[in-house]
Amino acid sequence: MSSDRKQSTEVARPVAFVTGASYGVGAATALAFARAAYDVIVTARRRENLDATLATLEQANCRAMAVEMLLSDDASIESAFQSALSAHGRIDVLVNNAAVNLRRLAVDVSRDEWRDVMAANVSGPFFMTQLMGRHLIASRRQGAVVNVASTHGLVGAAERSTYGISKGAMIQMTRMLAIEWAEHGIRVNAVAPGRMETASPSRAGTGANADYMAAMLARIPLHRLVTAEEVADAIVYLGGPAAASITGHVLVMDGGLTAVGWGSKLRRAD
Ligand SMILES: NC(=O)c1ccc[n+]([C@@H]2O[C@H](COP(=O)([O-])OP(=O)(O)OC[C@H]3O[C@@H](n4cnc5c(N)ncnc54)[C@H](OP(=O)(O)O)[C@@H]3O)[C@@H](O)[C@H]2O)c1
Repeated sequence: MSSDRKQSTEVARPVAFVTGASYGVGAATALAFARAAYDVIVTARRRENLDATLATLEQANCRAMAVEMLLSDDASIESAFQSALSAHGRIDVLVNNAAVNLRRLAVDVSRDEWRDVMAANVSGPFFMTQLMGRHLIASRRQGAVVNVASTHGLVGAAERSTYGISKGAMIQMTRMLAIEWAEHGIRVNAVAPGRMETASPSRAGTGANADYMAAMLARIPLHRLVTAEEVADAIVYLGGPAAASITGHVLVMDGGLTAVGWGSKLRRAD
């Protein structure tokens, strides 16, 4: 068989683009897509932080690519998206996972802190998603976006206003774009995880207080935290063909914490 003929009969693998894949949910999601036979593009603020993820993807026989991308910089977003398209020719699933967290009383939040969180968690993902929408609409191909929100975007909490407002905006972006792009066959969904324990530097030191963790687990109906791998599997599901009828959905993954009503008991005996 000639090499031309061979190429024409090859089935192109779907391509997933995962932002913020150095550790935690992003790294687990990239690996879950690789195991589901996707080619994967991963991004981070610092390219060297992606070395471990890239090695894992290559071990899983994935055609992977690592790109440095800063969500607050329009040119960086555009360049990362275009280099992924040049290398892979298409993007089927975009996962807006990268984000920054801010723990600060509302009265103490500075303009710069607010700007940084909104740039990384709202504007960057919006314009990234806009590039994805333009790409899919222009190429007349169906595709999916999965946003990684948080239960902080759904319910109130002290010291998390800026972060929570940004995640609430991401949840509303999910619904708005799901409706606007349904006619193009582009699905937009979100996951809203509760607290996770990951090896990320951003989580360093959290969870060390055993009393705090015990009190938190006692309030969660399933008495466990969601894992990054469980969130990753849900993202691959929402991004893939098995979720063809799902759009505008926000999948809460928090052991039932935000489902608890006022005055509810977790057990009949409590
Ligand atoms: N961890 C939790 O308990 C929890 C709970 C609910 C929801 N979430 C959400 O889940 C997602 C992943 O959380 P995680 O804890 O796994 O993340 P993480 O380990 O803190 O990793 C964040 C990733 O995003 C990248 N990033 C951060 N700011 C960026 C920016 N301005 N521009 C581009 N990339 C940026 C980082 O790149 P570098 O490595 O180069 O810094 C890194 O790859 C986030 O959306 C988070 O809000 C997390």
